[in-house]
Amino acid sequence: MPGFIWSKFKLVPGLWGELKPETSRTEAQISQRTEVILAGMTLDEKIDQMSGDGRLIHNIDTMIRYNQEPLPAGENHRLGIPGIRFSDGPRGIVMYCSTAFPVPMARGASWDIELEERIGDAIGVEARSQGANFFGGVCINLPRHPAWGRSQETFGEDPHLLGEMGAALIRGIQRHVMACVKHFACNSIENSRYHVDVRVDERTLREVYLPHFKRCIDEGVASVMGAYNKVNGDFCCHNEHLLMDILKEEWEFEGFVISDFINGVKDATAASRGLDIEMPFTIKYGKHLKKAVKAGRVAGDVIDESVRRILRTKLRFAQIGQPERYGEEAVGHRDHVALAREAAAKSMVLLKNDPVTDGMPVLPVSPDELRSVAVIGKLAIADNTGDHGSSHVHAPYVCTPLNGIQSAVGGETEVIFYDGRRIEKAVDLARRKDCVILVVGNCHYDEGEGIKVLGVQKGGDRKSLRLSSHEEALITAVAGANPRVVVVLVGGSSFIMENWRHEVPAILMSWYSGLEGGNALADILFGKVNPSGKLPLVFPLSEDQLPFFDSEADSVVYDYFHGYRLLDKNGHEPAFHFGFGLSYTTFSYSNLALSKDIIGPEEALSISVDIFNSGGLAGEEIVQLYVSYEGSSVERVARELKGFKKIALKPGEVQRVTFELSAKRLAYYDEECGKWVVEKIGYKVSVGPSSRVDDLLSANFWIE
Ligand code: BGC
Repeated sequence: MPGFIWSKFKLVPGLWGELKPETSRTEAQISQRTEVILAGMTLDEKIDQMSGDGRLIHNIDTMIRYNQEPLPAGENHRLGIPGIRFSDGPRGIVMYCSTAFPVPMARGASWDIELEERIGDAIGVEARSQGANFFGGVCINLPRHPAWGRSQETFGEDPHLLGEMGAALIRGIQRHVMACVKHFACNSIENSRYHVDVRVDERTLREVYLPHFKRCIDEGVASVMGAYNKVNGDFCCHNEHLLMDILKEEWEFEGFVISDFINGVKDATAASRGLDIEMPFTIKYGKHLKKAVKAGRVAGDVIDESVRRILRTKLRFAQIGQPERYGEEAVGHRDHVALAREAAAKSMVLLKNDPVTDGMPVLPVSPDELRSVAVIGKLAIADNTGDHGSSHVHAPYVCTPLNGIQSAVGGETEVIFYDGRRIEKAVDLARRKDCVILVVGNCHYDEGEGIKVLGVQKGGDRKSLRLSSHEEALITAVAGANPRVVVVLVGGSSFIMENWRHEVPAILMSWYSGLEGGNALADILFGKVNPSGKLPLVFPLSEDQLPFFDSEADSVVYDYFHGYRLLDKNGHEPAFHFGFGLSYTTFSYSNLALSKDIIGPEEALSISVDIFNSGGLAGEEIVQLYVSYEGSSVERVARELKGFKKIALKPGEVQRVTFELSAKRLAYYDEECGKWVVEKIGYKVSVGPSSRVDDLLSANFWIE
């Protein structure tokens, strides 16, 4: 570590580094060293590795400002074992005053793996620079319903997209610190998260709710956080089936499992069920765990196995890092700020851009021709980077939509802001200006982590998927007064817009776009950046297109269908399809070809397609690959995402994109035999710019 440390839990100089050998240890040396340390430990020392080091005084601090410093666990000076130093996320480092990136749902809309890896790298650098060595912010829960208050913390509704984005974030982060993937598993209701029992059959669990976790384990993630909720009757931090059978045995996960904080562990027997560390401090472990060992309720081997995992992972990760990049100046570094702006612009999704009176689409607006613009809506001046729960990043500043618009237009353009409180006043203003940017949607009062403070619920699940009736009326009224209206939506998941969407020519989903969100918005509105984001979750027409959702449920069944899969099954057209997003240019798809018509269950095929930029501007396109099943012996989805690629094309340019698809990835989980089965049936691959059937080119192949 460099000389400076933000934390008052000062790192003992060199402690993390002491585990760092002159030359990197091999895996065999790591195991050997682990055994040597383990052999020299007392039972107390072992048990101490298994819970956070926080103390009451620390928690009072935490209540005032959560995670202003790393939360330590398992520091042992006698043996020179460094503690884990936890920082939360995921939209950046929660400690101190770090770069606030767009929320993961926004980043999911970029479908940009390489960008996500760079964000992970920047987050890793900021973590390490502030004394953390463990990032607890890789959230990949699948939002079964968009009303889930923490949907914003995750990358979208599709397991493949979630897995690839999570893996990319982990790759970036783990160049610098350990990453923790959370919340394992089926954590997607906020208000009743501490007790809800999610009932899910094994096939649904394996095919819908777990594949993205498996993908992150395969990527080598250091740690997994158990969720608060129950799955099939057992709390997740006590869930032997999830933690032992699947995670540690079947998936061969070698890292350690931590509890979700404070309420995750119910008693010391969690240790026998696969929970290695109680966070952020001892409640049910510590002396209770020691008693359980002495009484034979928890076996000594269980303790050794947990400590072995913890030590081995620390030893592995103590070897990583790029010390020359860490230091005070790395926190909120201008490169990270520029990256946040790039990510925000690449994640905005243009949902609608119809021609107006002059026959041209509203967007992009040419700043040179713009004499006046009305910016309406209280969110246009809000520091609105998302939830204020455990993911709250305290950015050094926030560029609001109004700030961004003001700095993008020249001094010749008049920019007038009105918060929209009185509809008549907004209408009057709209009538007198060249164009109107209406910023509406949500903030941390409407959605977020469900935290009860003195019995009062903060954040939590959304009460409605619609805008407030005031905002809906405001949009309609303003659209009646000026034909050039752009609605900018702010929020962490989908909206239902049927009361107003046909009345406005342009809609842009901007999500919670981080500290540079206002500048990124201006980049899109004024055409500096061509929009390329695509929806990472379906935007339905109405609530009844979605699965049942009860945010106070004590028990809930998660069945096989949600999101676009459910709409497809029921033959419902959404307002905007999963994978949909417009550009200022146009792309056309042709020449779909498969390398083979027939493959064996162990084989793979490649799928190629030409993409042509048929418009007048350079742009980026997200090419999506879906698979359908023909004649399956079990019920399958109509189509599901199996691949995507992002490409950049100049006007007139064509690029051939190729996907590799292995038969194994088409298997279903057979509950009876507890095995994945690749069926010898027909398959249809479809490639296109969204999941909408009419947008897709298709071809068939068979597995024999
Ligand atoms: C959240 C986790 C978070 C932890 C620590 C919990 O309430 O569910 O996501 O990492 O708190 O703040």
